Order: sequence, then C-alpha cells, then structure tokens
Amino acid sequence: MSPTRAPVPPPPARTARQLREATSSARRRHRPDADLNPLRQGLRLERVPDPCSFVLFGATGDLAHRKVIPAIYQLWRTNLLPAEFSIVAVARRPYTDEAFGAEVRASVEANSRVQPVDEAAWAELAKRITYQQLDFGDDAGFDRLSERLDALDAERGTAGNRLFYLATQPSQVTEIVRQLGRVGLDHEMRGSGWRRVVVEKPFGRDYESARRLNHEVAKVFRESQVYRIDHYLGKETVRNLLVFRFGNGIFEPVWNRSYVDHVQITVAESLGVESRGAFYEETGASRDILQNHLLQLMTLVAMEPPSSFHADALRDQKLQVLRAIATPDVEHVRHDVVRGQYGSGWAQGAAAPGYREEPEVDPESETETYVAGRFTIEDWRWSGVPFYLRAGKRLPERTTEIAIQFKEVPLPLFRESTGDPAPNVLAMRIQPDEGIMLRFAAKVPGLGLDVRTVNMDFDYGTSFSVDSPDAYETLILDALLGDASLFTRADEVEAAWAVVTPIIEGWAAMPAPRFPNYAAGTWGPEAADELMERDGRRWRRI
Ligand code: BG6
Repeated sequence: MSPTRAPVPPPPARTARQLREATSSARRRHRPDADLNPLRQGLRLERVPDPCSFVLFGATGDLAHRKVIPAIYQLWRTNLLPAEFSIVAVARRPYTDEAFGAEVRASVEANSRVQPVDEAAWAELAKRITYQQLDFGDDAGFDRLSERLDALDAERGTAGNRLFYLATQPSQVTEIVRQLGRVGLDHEMRGSGWRRVVVEKPFGRDYESARRLNHEVAKVFRESQVYRIDHYLGKETVRNLLVFRFGNGIFEPVWNRSYVDHVQITVAESLGVESRGAFYEETGASRDILQNHLLQLMTLVAMEPPSSFHADALRDQKLQVLRAIATPDVEHVRHDVVRGQYGSGWAQGAAAPGYREEPEVDPESETETYVAGRFTIEDWRWSGVPFYLRAGKRLPERTTEIAIQFKEVPLPLFRESTGDPAPNVLAMRIQPDEGIMLRFAAKVPGLGLDVRTVNMDFDYGTSFSVDSPDAYETLILDALLGDASLFTRADEVEAAWAVVTPIIEGWAAMPAPRFPNYAAGTWGPEAADELMERDGRRWRRI
C-alpha cells in the first residue's frame, strides 16, 4: 500500500505585477533555463516598455526627488525598464552630471521603498542619467536638448522614443510644451518613435484656466500623447476598486439607488502643510484634493461598467459621472459645502501650530485646509443618493476610505435586540491598512436573541503578503507602455473643475467663516457634522 500523502496546496495566487516582474526579469536577463512561454507558465506575458529617453523637467524639485526618481529606480531594480534607457534630468540650476548623480543617489537612499539600495542596480541606472541646465524660456537650450536626445538615440539605442515628464511649477507647463513643439520634439512621424508628455497636477486653477491649459497643450500634442497624473489612480487599492466592482458578480446588483443609502469618501491627513505653505496658500483643500483625488474616487465608485479596460472606454464612463454631478449653485455652496482651517492643537502626541503659524502662510490667511460637501449624481443609478466627500489636513489620522452605506431592512425585526439600527456598510480602506470590510448584523451566541454588528474583513497584507508598488511606479510604467487608462483626459479634468469652480467662486463671494475653526488633531469643523446631522446621518468614525 502506498503511503497516504497530504494534498499539495495550490501555489499562492500571484498579482499581475508579480507576474510581470517574473516574466520581464526572465526575459531581460536572458536566463537560458527560463521558460518564457506564458502558456506553460500560466502567466500573461506583459510588455516591457520600448527603448526610450525619459526627460525629467523639474529634476531638482521635491517631487522628482521624493517620488519620480525613486519610482524609476524601483522599476529599474526589478527589471521592468528596457536596457536601452536614459534619463535626461532638466532644471534651471547649474549642476555637473556627477553632482546631480550624487544628489539623486541620496534621494533614492532616503525615499526608496525597498532598502537598502541595490548598489549594482543603482550603478547601472546612474550611468544612464545626465543633467542639462535649461532655462525654460531659452530657445537655444531647447535646441541643445533636442540635439542631445538625438545623440542619445545613437549612443544608447533609445530609438527616438521620448517621454517628457513635467514635474515643474504648473505655471511653467505652457512654456515647456510650446518649446517642445517649437523644436519638433512632439512629432511622431513614421519611424521617428513615440513622444509623450506627462503633466502633474494641479492642472489649472479653475474651469477657465484648465480649458486654456488644455488648449495650449493641444496646440502641440495630440490628446493621445498627453498623460495627466492623479497619483490616486495609481494606488493599488484604487485600482482594486475596479476589480472589486467589475470582477465580481455579487456587488453590482446592489450598487444603486435601490439599495445604497449614501456614500462617504474621506481623505484624511494627519500632517499639516509642512514646507509647502506658499503652494498651499494658492491652492487650499478644494483645489488640492477635492477637484482631483476625491472626485476621481467618486467616479470610480459611481461609474457604469465600461465595455473594456481600454483607456477611452474607462474614461468615457468616468466622464459621464462627472458630467452628471449636480453643479453646485450658491444655495448649495452655502448649505452643503463646508470649509475649515486648522488652528493649533495636537498631532501624534506633540503640540502642533495652527495653519496661520506655518512657514510662508499669511497670518490672516483664509485658505481652507478642510473641505466637506454633499454631492448628488443625476442619473438613473444614483438619483437621490448623496455622496458625502471630505478631506482635511491635521486630522487625527492619515486615512483614506470609501464607505458605501446600505439602506436599512424594510422591517426591523430585531430592533429591540439591536437598539440603534446598524445598517450594512461596505468600507474600502484605500490607505493605510489596505483592505475591505463588510459590516453586518449577527446573533450573539446564547439563549437570548441579542444582535450585534460584526465586521468581515479582507486585509491586503495578510492575503497577499507582498508589498504594493508605489502609485508613481505604476503610473510611470503605464506611461512608458502607452497605457493611459489611469490618467485623466482633458474633458474629465474640465468636467471636474466644472463641479469645483462654483464652490471656489461661491466662497469668494461670501464672508469666510471665522478661521481657524477646528483644532489640529480633531475631525474638522462642527459645521461638517451639522451637514450630516441635517440629513439624519453621521460621518463614520474611522
Ligand atoms: C497631493 C497633495 O496630491 O496628495 C498633498 O498635493 C497631499 O497636499 C497628497 O498631501 C496626499 O497623497 P497621499 O498619497 O499621501 O495620500
């Protein structure tokens, strides 16, 4: 008799990114033993970007150092970039290649999500980085940049493919794009390679300026060449929202006005404005978070299923939602939108200054560091379902969450045993502690009929035990691959501004509340609670 054997457990599920890492690294290293046939491996073969030059404008700035360069390093380290790759770092300050290289090395050390830095991988990448000093108004400088890119094609085999990443001040975008057009760096002629431009947020300051900016960019680049970044769309959990909704059959039937009571979306930050006081004075929470991150999350929750995951199929559906959001009028702004500004208080156990005491902030500033609002979508699916959105700095915790609260049962049979009604909630934790929680009623064990609410929890960390990539890794790789699905299209950006601009204008026309109106380390102004109470609801305690 043969000995009995325990069943062999199936291999752990692998994420698409793991699969991509596995295949592409095998391909790049040309391991003779690597079986690259995706069918034999049970893998979907993912593409590695074409050979290309990555031209980073604003290369000495904070964003480049904290996010962009560490993300490129991480992609390089995991063999997700082609060997024929070069980075041309562009900024106004004078640097030698060596001095710039030393500075970015320090940034990678400080900001890479995987430590310690892989010296061999870094050394290879560093060879591919050069620096070019450039004043964005200087024609001759752009001519030199163009020549240099041609030279790199010959030296590094970058094949004429160029990605221009604008990590600059928003006010510099138009000039850089104009110059790129002037020297013909936008042209995608037959055989000349592809040309793409990535533009960071904020994209405009209001509806009109966003339209003007789109118009200026469109004079040079076709829309299919333009990649507008909203880094929330690159977050792993945000991408999973699409899988959750459209990869499962059981949620879609209840995802509508018949079953959903309301939706709450929270982007809470515990930090203040840090060193970005000057930027924030011009921005405020409505431009910084509501116009982009919050509205993007709302579209992903509310959109109709796309017919495919092709970039335009997805973005068409998101656009429909943005256009269906009721445009706020003065009354709506007065009653349904709340602004706040933090005063001094506490943050992580230490005393924290008020916003007006932060560096580079006007001591009488009326800029909002908190915004909350009630929005409705006028379509068949969502008519009558309020979406409550809120975002703020110096709140008690850093947490981003989408919560779908369902309607109560039609006949509350267990009201006596439960006390307060406790409707079902589906909460998607975008960060930190990424996961999904479903709250439902359960009978407490015992002879009586006590009913309590319990949580059923899915936790990313426990289920997959792999680190998620940073949003910038995902987005940079997608831009290099020419996949625009996680980038916002011109019409989407304008539609989002059409929602937020009346709020900003409405506020400008009415007296500001007495700021500060919430203390650092608390959940925002009282008016935000009153907004919910008027509707007989409460913000979730997170
Ligand atoms: C940025 C805002 O877009 O998002 C910042 O400009 C904010 O003010 C940041 O702090 C929040 O991003 P994350 O990924 O830390 O939630």
